[in-house]
Amino acid sequence: MKIAILGFGTVGKGVYEIVKKANVQTQNLSVSHILVRKNKPRVLKEMTDSIDEIVNDQETDIVVEALGGIEPAHQYILKALEHGKHVITANKAVIAIYLKQFSDAANKHGVKFYFEASVGGGIPWIQGLEKALRIDTVNTISGIFNGTSNFILDQMSRNEESFDEVLAEAQKLGYAEADPSADIDGIDVANKLCISADIAYNINLQDRKKLPIFGIRNITLEDVDFFSQHGYAVKLIGRTHQADNKFDYVVEPTLFAHHSLEANTPDNYNLISLNGETIGKLDFFGQGAGMLPTANAVIQDILDIKEDKDHLKRNFDKKMIYSSEMTKADYL
Ligand code: NDP
Ligand code: HSE
Repeated sequence: MKIAILGFGTVGKGVYEIVKKANVQTQNLSVSHILVRKNKPRVLKEMTDSIDEIVNDQETDIVVEALGGIEPAHQYILKALEHGKHVITANKAVIAIYLKQFSDAANKHGVKFYFEASVGGGIPWIQGLEKALRIDTVNTISGIFNGTSNFILDQMSRNEESFDEVLAEAQKLGYAEADPSADIDGIDVANKLCISADIAYNINLQDRKKLPIFGIRNITLEDVDFFSQHGYAVKLIGRTHQADNKFDYVVEPTLFAHHSLEANTPDNYNLISLNGETIGKLDFFGQGAGMLPTANAVIQDILDIKEDKDHLKRNFDKKMIYSSEMTKADYL
Protein backbone atom coordinates (compact mmCIF):
# COMPACT_ATOMS: atom_id res chain seq x y z
CA MET A 1 0.00 0.00 0.00
CA LYS A 2 1.24 3.46 -0.84
CA ILE A 3 0.78 6.24 1.66
CA ALA A 4 0.95 10.01 1.19
CA ILE A 5 1.74 12.06 4.30
CA LEU A 6 0.43 15.64 4.45
CA GLY A 7 2.69 17.66 6.78
CA PHE A 8 6.17 16.72 7.94
CA GLY A 9 6.20 17.87 11.57
CA THR A 10 6.11 15.77 14.75
CA VAL A 11 3.38 13.33 13.63
CA GLY A 12 4.27 13.24 9.90
CA LYS A 13 7.90 12.42 10.69
CA GLY A 14 6.86 9.76 13.21
CA VAL A 15 4.66 8.03 10.59
CA TYR A 16 7.52 8.15 8.06
CA GLU A 17 9.95 6.71 10.63
CA ILE A 18 7.70 3.78 11.59
CA VAL A 19 6.85 2.94 7.96
CA LYS A 20 10.61 2.72 7.30
CA LYS A 21 11.08 0.20 10.13
CA ALA A 22 11.86 -3.30 8.90
CA ASN A 23 8.97 -5.16 10.54
CA VAL A 24 6.44 -2.64 9.24
CA GLN A 25 7.93 -2.62 5.73
CA THR A 26 7.45 -6.36 5.50
CA GLN A 27 3.73 -5.55 5.49
CA ASN A 28 4.28 -3.86 2.12
CA LEU A 29 3.77 -0.26 3.18
CA SER A 30 5.65 2.56 1.49
CA VAL A 31 5.49 6.35 1.40
CA SER A 32 4.64 7.76 -2.04
CA HIS A 33 4.52 11.49 -1.22
CA ILE A 34 5.13 13.95 1.60
CA LEU A 35 3.33 17.29 1.30
CA VAL A 36 5.48 20.23 2.47
CA ARG A 37 5.18 23.97 1.98
CA LYS A 38 6.53 25.55 -1.22
CA ASN A 39 9.39 27.27 0.61
CA LYS A 40 10.68 24.08 2.29
CA PRO A 41 13.87 22.38 0.98
CA ARG A 42 13.13 19.02 -0.70
CA VAL A 43 15.40 16.86 1.47
CA LEU A 44 13.55 13.63 0.62
CA LYS A 45 12.63 12.43 -2.87
CA GLU A 46 8.98 11.89 -1.81
CA MET A 47 8.46 15.61 -1.02
CA THR A 48 6.09 17.76 -3.06
CA ASP A 49 4.06 20.94 -2.51
CA SER A 50 1.16 19.82 -4.74
CA ILE A 51 -1.96 18.28 -3.17
CA ASP A 52 -3.28 17.69 -6.73
CA GLU A 53 -0.25 15.58 -7.61
CA ILE A 54 -1.05 13.44 -4.54
CA VAL A 55 -4.80 12.97 -5.02
CA ASN A 56 -4.39 12.32 -8.75
CA ASP A 57 -1.73 9.65 -8.24
CA GLN A 58 -3.46 6.35 -9.06
CA GLU A 59 -0.96 4.38 -6.99
CA THR A 60 -1.53 6.22 -3.71
CA ASP A 61 -4.07 4.34 -1.59
CA ILE A 62 -4.05 6.24 1.71
CA VAL A 63 -3.65 9.92 2.61
CA VAL A 64 -2.48 10.67 6.18
CA GLU A 65 -3.34 14.24 7.14
CA ALA A 66 -0.88 15.60 9.76
CA LEU A 67 -0.98 19.33 8.94
CA GLY A 68 -3.10 20.43 11.90
CA GLY A 69 -5.54 23.36 11.93
CA ILE A 70 -8.84 23.72 10.08
CA GLU A 71 -7.91 24.95 6.61
CA PRO A 72 -6.50 23.70 4.30
CA ALA A 73 -6.72 20.39 6.25
CA HIS A 74 -10.53 20.29 5.80
CA GLN A 75 -10.39 20.87 2.02
CA TYR A 76 -7.47 18.46 1.51
CA ILE A 77 -9.23 15.65 3.44
CA LEU A 78 -12.41 16.13 1.37
CA LYS A 79 -10.43 16.25 -1.85
CA ALA A 80 -8.62 13.02 -1.00
CA LEU A 81 -11.89 11.25 -0.11
CA GLU A 82 -13.54 12.51 -3.31
CA HIS A 83 -10.59 11.11 -5.30
CA GLY A 84 -11.19 7.67 -3.78
CA LYS A 85 -8.35 7.72 -1.24
CA HIS A 86 -8.73 6.33 2.27
CA VAL A 87 -7.94 9.11 4.77
CA ILE A 88 -6.42 8.94 8.23
CA THR A 89 -6.00 12.01 10.40
CA ALA A 90 -4.67 12.90 13.86
CA ASN A 91 -6.27 16.34 13.62
CA LYS A 92 -8.95 16.61 16.33
CA ALA A 93 -9.60 20.31 15.66
CA VAL A 94 -10.86 19.58 12.13
CA ILE A 95 -12.73 16.37 13.05
CA ALA A 96 -14.53 18.04 15.96
CA ILE A 97 -16.19 20.28 13.36
CA TYR A 98 -16.39 18.07 10.26
CA LEU A 99 -16.67 14.45 11.47
CA LYS A 100 -20.13 14.00 9.93
CA GLN A 101 -19.10 15.58 6.62
CA PHE A 102 -15.97 13.39 6.40
CA SER A 103 -17.87 10.22 7.34
CA ASP A 104 -20.59 10.97 4.76
CA ALA A 105 -17.98 11.66 2.05
CA ALA A 106 -16.10 8.44 2.87
CA ASN A 107 -19.34 6.41 2.69
CA LYS A 108 -20.32 8.08 -0.61
CA HIS A 109 -16.96 7.30 -2.23
CA GLY A 110 -16.58 3.79 -0.77
CA VAL A 111 -13.42 4.56 1.21
CA LYS A 112 -12.48 4.62 4.88
CA PHE A 113 -11.97 7.63 7.18
CA TYR A 114 -10.12 6.68 10.39
CA PHE A 115 -8.84 8.92 13.19
CA GLU A 116 -7.57 6.82 16.12
CA ALA A 117 -4.65 9.20 16.84
CA SER A 118 -6.94 12.20 17.25
CA VAL A 119 -7.97 11.33 20.84
CA GLY A 120 -5.54 9.94 23.40
CA GLY A 121 -2.43 9.87 21.15
CA GLY A 122 -1.09 6.29 21.31
CA ILE A 123 -3.99 4.96 23.40
CA PRO A 124 -6.48 2.82 21.38
CA TRP A 125 -9.34 4.94 22.75
CA ILE A 126 -11.57 5.30 19.66
CA GLN A 127 -11.26 1.58 19.02
CA GLY A 128 -12.00 0.83 22.70
CA LEU A 129 -15.02 3.13 22.71
CA GLU A 130 -16.35 1.62 19.47
CA LYS A 131 -15.90 -1.89 20.87
CA ALA A 132 -17.79 -0.93 24.05
CA LEU A 133 -20.61 0.49 21.87
CA ARG A 134 -21.07 -2.83 20.06
CA ILE A 135 -22.69 -4.11 23.25
CA ASP A 136 -23.35 -1.21 25.61
CA THR A 137 -24.81 2.23 25.80
CA VAL A 138 -21.91 4.36 27.04
CA ASN A 139 -23.33 6.85 29.54
CA THR A 140 -20.20 8.56 30.78
CA ILE A 141 -16.84 9.55 29.34
CA SER A 142 -14.34 11.26 31.57
CA GLY A 143 -10.66 11.84 32.11
CA ILE A 144 -7.33 13.43 31.30
CA PHE A 145 -7.33 14.04 27.54
CA ASN A 146 -4.40 16.43 27.09
CA GLY A 147 -0.75 15.41 27.38
CA THR A 148 0.66 18.94 27.40
CA SER A 149 -1.46 20.23 30.29
CA ASN A 150 -0.85 17.02 32.24
CA PHE A 151 2.89 17.38 31.64
CA ILE A 152 2.78 21.00 32.82
CA LEU A 153 0.82 20.26 36.03
CA ASP A 154 2.91 17.16 36.78
CA GLN A 155 6.27 18.92 36.29
CA MET A 156 5.09 21.92 38.34
CA SER A 157 4.27 19.62 41.25
CA ARG A 158 7.43 17.46 40.99
CA ASN A 159 10.15 19.93 40.06
CA GLU A 160 8.77 23.24 41.25
CA GLU A 161 9.26 24.64 37.72
CA SER A 162 7.11 27.59 36.63
CA PHE A 163 4.19 27.23 34.20
CA ASP A 164 6.05 29.00 31.38
CA GLU A 165 9.23 26.93 31.79
CA VAL A 166 7.35 23.64 31.58
CA LEU A 167 5.21 24.79 28.66
CA ALA A 168 8.41 25.57 26.71
CA GLU A 169 9.65 22.04 27.53
CA ALA A 170 6.37 20.47 26.31
CA GLN A 171 6.72 22.41 23.05
CA LYS A 172 10.30 21.16 22.60
CA LEU A 173 9.17 17.57 23.19
CA GLY A 174 6.53 17.90 20.43
CA TYR A 175 3.53 17.47 22.77
CA ALA A 176 1.97 20.92 22.34
CA GLU A 177 -0.22 22.18 19.49
CA ALA A 178 1.23 24.71 17.01
CA ASP A 179 -0.77 27.25 19.02
CA PRO A 180 -0.39 25.94 22.60
CA SER A 181 -3.31 28.03 23.85
CA ALA A 182 -5.48 25.13 22.61
CA ASP A 183 -3.73 22.90 25.17
CA ILE A 184 -3.75 25.27 28.13
CA ASP A 185 -7.20 26.82 27.58
CA GLY A 186 -9.05 23.49 27.42
CA ILE A 187 -9.88 23.74 23.68
CA ASP A 188 -7.97 20.58 22.77
CA VAL A 189 -9.78 18.63 25.52
CA ALA A 190 -13.09 20.08 24.31
CA ASN A 191 -12.34 18.86 20.76
CA LYS A 192 -11.50 15.35 21.99
CA LEU A 193 -14.53 15.20 24.26
CA CYS A 194 -16.72 16.39 21.38
CA ILE A 195 -15.42 13.63 19.06
CA SER A 196 -15.94 11.01 21.80
CA ALA A 197 -19.47 12.27 22.60
CA ASP A 198 -20.39 12.34 18.87
CA ILE A 199 -19.42 8.67 18.60
CA ALA A 200 -20.88 7.54 21.93
CA TYR A 201 -24.20 9.40 21.73
CA ASN A 202 -24.71 9.47 17.92
CA ILE A 203 -24.90 13.27 17.95
CA ASN A 204 -23.22 15.97 15.90
CA LEU A 205 -22.00 18.38 18.53
CA GLN A 206 -20.71 21.19 16.32
CA ASP A 207 -21.80 24.19 18.33
CA ARG A 208 -19.85 24.18 21.57
CA LYS A 209 -19.98 27.93 22.16
CA LYS A 210 -22.33 27.62 25.12
CA LEU A 211 -20.54 24.71 26.78
CA PRO A 212 -18.36 25.35 29.85
CA ILE A 213 -14.69 25.06 28.87
CA PHE A 214 -11.97 26.13 31.33
CA GLY A 215 -8.21 25.64 31.11
CA ILE A 216 -5.15 25.74 33.35
CA ARG A 217 -3.59 29.03 32.19
CA ASN A 218 -4.06 30.73 35.56
CA ILE A 219 -2.83 27.91 37.80
CA THR A 220 0.36 28.96 39.59
CA LEU A 221 3.13 27.08 41.36
CA GLU A 222 1.68 28.40 44.64
CA ASP A 223 -1.74 26.86 43.80
CA VAL A 224 -0.16 23.48 42.99
CA ASP A 225 1.81 23.54 46.27
CA PHE A 226 -1.27 24.54 48.27
CA PHE A 227 -3.34 21.67 46.80
CA SER A 228 -0.49 19.24 47.42
CA GLN A 229 -0.16 20.25 51.10
CA HIS A 230 -3.84 19.34 51.48
CA GLY A 231 -3.39 15.92 49.79
CA TYR A 232 -4.58 16.77 46.26
CA ALA A 233 -3.26 17.04 42.70
CA VAL A 234 -4.94 19.29 40.14
CA LYS A 235 -5.68 17.81 36.69
CA LEU A 236 -7.44 19.17 33.59
CA ILE A 237 -10.50 16.98 33.12
CA GLY A 238 -13.09 16.58 30.37
CA ARG A 239 -16.38 14.95 31.37
CA THR A 240 -19.63 14.17 29.63
CA HIS A 241 -22.63 12.19 30.78
CA GLN A 242 -25.90 11.27 29.05
CA ALA A 243 -29.31 10.21 30.31
CA ASP A 244 -32.87 10.54 28.91
CA ASN A 245 -31.87 12.44 25.74
CA LYS A 246 -29.97 15.01 27.78
CA PHE A 247 -26.23 15.35 28.08
CA ASP A 248 -23.84 17.26 30.28
CA TYR A 249 -20.35 18.31 29.22
CA VAL A 250 -17.59 20.21 30.97
CA VAL A 251 -13.85 20.84 30.69
CA GLU A 252 -12.34 22.09 33.95
CA PRO A 253 -9.38 21.73 36.33
CA THR A 254 -10.36 19.29 39.08
CA LEU A 255 -8.73 18.16 42.34
CA PHE A 256 -7.95 14.46 42.93
CA ALA A 257 -6.69 12.81 46.14
CA HIS A 258 -3.03 11.77 45.99
CA HIS A 259 -3.84 8.03 45.95
CA SER A 260 -6.23 8.27 42.92
CA LEU A 261 -5.42 7.05 39.39
CA GLU A 262 -5.83 10.58 38.06
CA ALA A 263 -3.31 12.06 40.53
CA ASN A 264 -0.87 9.31 39.51
CA THR A 265 -1.11 9.97 35.77
CA PRO A 266 2.38 11.35 34.98
CA ASP A 267 4.17 13.29 32.22
CA ASN A 268 2.42 13.32 28.84
CA TYR A 269 0.08 10.47 29.82
CA ASN A 270 -3.70 10.45 29.41
CA LEU A 271 -6.22 8.53 31.51
CA ILE A 272 -9.58 8.23 29.75
CA SER A 273 -12.52 6.31 31.17
CA LEU A 274 -15.88 5.20 29.91
CA ASN A 275 -18.80 3.72 31.75
CA GLY A 276 -20.97 1.17 29.93
CA GLU A 277 -24.00 -0.77 31.10
CA THR A 278 -22.39 -4.23 31.15
CA ILE A 279 -18.68 -3.43 31.03
CA GLY A 280 -18.87 -0.95 33.93
CA LYS A 281 -15.95 1.42 34.27
CA LEU A 282 -13.11 0.93 31.80
CA ASP A 283 -9.89 2.97 32.02
CA PHE A 284 -7.45 3.64 29.17
CA PHE A 285 -3.95 4.77 30.15
CA GLY A 286 -0.90 5.62 28.04
CA GLN A 287 1.05 8.34 26.27
CA GLY A 288 -1.47 10.87 25.01
CA ALA A 289 0.99 12.96 23.00
CA GLY A 290 4.37 12.63 21.32
CA MET A 291 5.81 11.62 17.99
CA LEU A 292 6.04 7.83 18.09
CA PRO A 293 2.99 6.97 20.24
CA THR A 294 0.81 9.14 17.97
CA ALA A 295 2.39 7.78 14.79
CA ASN A 296 1.82 4.26 16.13
CA ALA A 297 -1.93 4.97 16.33
CA VAL A 298 -1.87 6.27 12.72
CA ILE A 299 -0.08 3.11 11.56
CA GLN A 300 -2.67 0.95 13.39
CA ASP A 301 -5.35 2.66 11.26
CA ILE A 302 -3.26 2.07 8.11
CA LEU A 303 -3.00 -1.64 8.97
CA ASP A 304 -6.75 -1.83 9.65
CA ILE A 305 -7.37 -0.43 6.16
CA LYS A 306 -4.84 -2.82 4.63
CA GLU A 307 -6.55 -5.75 6.37
CA ASP A 308 -9.97 -4.37 5.34
CA LYS A 309 -11.14 -4.07 8.96
CA ASP A 310 -14.24 -1.96 9.27
CA HIS A 311 -14.61 0.42 12.20
CA LEU A 312 -18.05 1.07 13.69
CA LYS A 313 -20.56 2.61 11.27
CA ARG A 314 -21.56 5.98 12.67
CA ASN A 315 -24.86 7.79 12.70
CA PHE A 316 -24.94 11.35 13.99
CA ASP A 317 -28.65 12.08 13.67
CA LYS A 318 -29.74 11.88 17.30
CA LYS A 319 -30.83 15.16 18.90
CA MET A 320 -29.98 15.72 22.57
CA ILE A 321 -30.42 18.65 24.91
CA TYR A 322 -27.47 20.10 26.80
CA SER A 323 -28.23 20.27 30.49
CA SER A 324 -25.89 21.56 33.17
CA GLU A 325 -28.27 20.35 35.85
CA MET A 326 -27.40 16.65 35.77
CA THR A 327 -25.88 15.87 39.14
CA LYS A 328 -22.19 15.10 39.52
CA ALA A 329 -23.25 11.95 41.38
CA ASP A 330 -24.13 10.54 37.95
CA TYR A 331 -20.48 10.65 36.95
CA LEU A 332 -17.92 7.89 37.44
P1 NDP B 1 3.56 20.14 13.69
O1 NDP B 1 3.32 21.60 13.76
O2 NDP B 1 4.76 19.55 14.33
O3 NDP B 1 3.56 19.65 12.17
C1 NDP B 1 2.68 20.11 11.20
C2 NDP B 1 3.46 20.20 9.91
O4 NDP B 1 2.58 20.47 8.84
C3 NDP B 1 4.52 21.33 9.96
O5 NDP B 1 5.71 20.85 9.40
C4 NDP B 1 3.87 22.40 9.08
O6 NDP B 1 4.80 23.23 8.43
C5 NDP B 1 3.13 21.54 8.07
N1 NDP B 1 2.08 22.26 7.39
C6 NDP B 1 1.07 22.96 7.95
N2 NDP B 1 0.28 23.47 6.99
C7 NDP B 1 0.81 23.08 5.81
C8 NDP B 1 0.44 23.28 4.46
N3 NDP B 1 -0.64 24.00 4.11
N4 NDP B 1 1.17 22.70 3.48
C9 NDP B 1 2.26 21.96 3.80
N5 NDP B 1 2.68 21.73 5.06
C10 NDP B 1 1.95 22.30 6.06
O7 NDP B 1 2.25 19.45 14.28
P2 NDP B 1 2.12 17.95 14.81
O8 NDP B 1 2.79 17.02 13.91
O9 NDP B 1 2.42 17.93 16.26
O10 NDP B 1 0.53 17.77 14.71
C11 NDP B 1 -0.10 17.44 13.49
C12 NDP B 1 -1.55 17.08 13.80
O11 NDP B 1 -1.58 15.95 14.68
C13 NDP B 1 -2.30 18.19 14.53
O12 NDP B 1 -3.63 18.18 14.10
C14 NDP B 1 -2.23 17.76 16.01
O13 NDP B 1 -3.30 18.25 16.75
C15 NDP B 1 -2.31 16.26 15.85
N6 NDP B 1 -1.76 15.50 16.96
C16 NDP B 1 -0.51 15.80 17.44
C17 NDP B 1 0.03 15.05 18.46
C18 NDP B 1 1.37 15.34 19.02
O14 NDP B 1 1.73 14.71 20.04
N7 NDP B 1 2.17 16.22 18.44
C19 NDP B 1 -0.74 13.93 19.07
C20 NDP B 1 -2.03 13.69 18.47
C21 NDP B 1 -2.51 14.46 17.46
P3 NDP B 1 5.26 24.60 9.13
O15 NDP B 1 6.10 24.18 10.30
O16 NDP B 1 6.02 25.27 8.05
O17 NDP B 1 4.03 25.31 9.55
N1 HSE C 1 -1.37 18.72 22.06
C1 HSE C 1 -2.00 17.47 22.30
C2 HSE C 1 -1.80 17.05 23.73
C3 HSE C 1 -1.45 16.43 21.38
O1 HSE C 1 -0.92 17.61 24.38
O2 HSE C 1 -2.52 16.19 24.22
C4 HSE C 1 -2.15 15.10 21.47
O3 HSE C 1 -3.47 15.19 21.00
